[in-house]
Amino acid sequence: MLGARSPGAPIGVFDSGVGGLSVLRHIRAQYPNEHLMYVADSGHAPYGDKTEEYVVERALAVTEFLLAHGAKALVVACNTATVAAIKAVRLRYPELPVVGVEPGLKPAAAASRNGKVGVLATARTLKGEKFLQLREQISAATQAEFLLQPAIGLVDEIEKGNLQAPAIHAMLEKYVAPLLEQGADTLVLGCTHYPFVKSGIEQVLRAHARGDVTLIDTGDAVARQLGRLLEAAGLLRPELKPDATLRGYTTGDAAALAQAFGDLLGLAPELEKIDV
Ligand code: DGL
Repeated sequence: MLGARSPGAPIGVFDSGVGGLSVLRHIRAQYPNEHLMYVADSGHAPYGDKTEEYVVERALAVTEFLLAHGAKALVVACNTATVAAIKAVRLRYPELPVVGVEPGLKPAAAASRNGKVGVLATARTLKGEKFLQLREQISAATQAEFLLQPAIGLVDEIEKGNLQAPAIHAMLEKYVAPLLEQGADTLVLGCTHYPFVKSGIEQVLRAHARGDVTLIDTGDAVARQLGRLLEAAGLLRPELKPDATLRGYTTGDAAALAQAFGDLLGLAPELEKIDV
């Protein structure tokens, strides 16, 4: 069932965990007037090493929860869930404005000077049909070569909350160095968790004397696309009142999500543990 689709209704945003907060911050910055609900499906994270069926099932369950709580639009703030499940969500809710996040291959191809683009993402994203089609389409149009690098385990480490952990630094070195060796001059952050370790990636780039490499994150573009969809549907919240609400929900540990909101965004929203 669709929730109340009025401009005053909240926007629902979800991810397998805290990664979607890197998209939420752009939505808040661009649309400070919108009510927001964020679901961290941390009880089922990471999605990146699960089957496509599992991710579809989770995406539908979380979407249903957000709709039952009145969402007027949905942001799938997760590359893995977008690649695996956005089609199923759109099929089930054809009326709902839905925005997904896909690895930014197009802006990366445009930014690259030598046509070699490294793509860091989860294993599930890089195996997904939707992603492979996108890669084919963009390489045919631009002649860019995409070097795919699954960053196994990185989401789990970021979920633990210590972004300076040596384990994170070791993984970034392990996953970024081979892309540099293959000549990449542009790296796509193809998972919404990765912008939170951007400074760690930059550290690796500096250590390899490759400060010239461009990093591509699509959070800002996703927020703009959301605005376009809301506007087209007549669903932008019009008044400019400082009363926009933010509520967080998690299928995992509420204290961990509170910590992430505080550390990553400097926010302390109302949080609730849910079982969906
Ligand atoms: N933030 C998700 C993404 O963008 C992480 C997926 C996972 O849970 O492995 O792909």
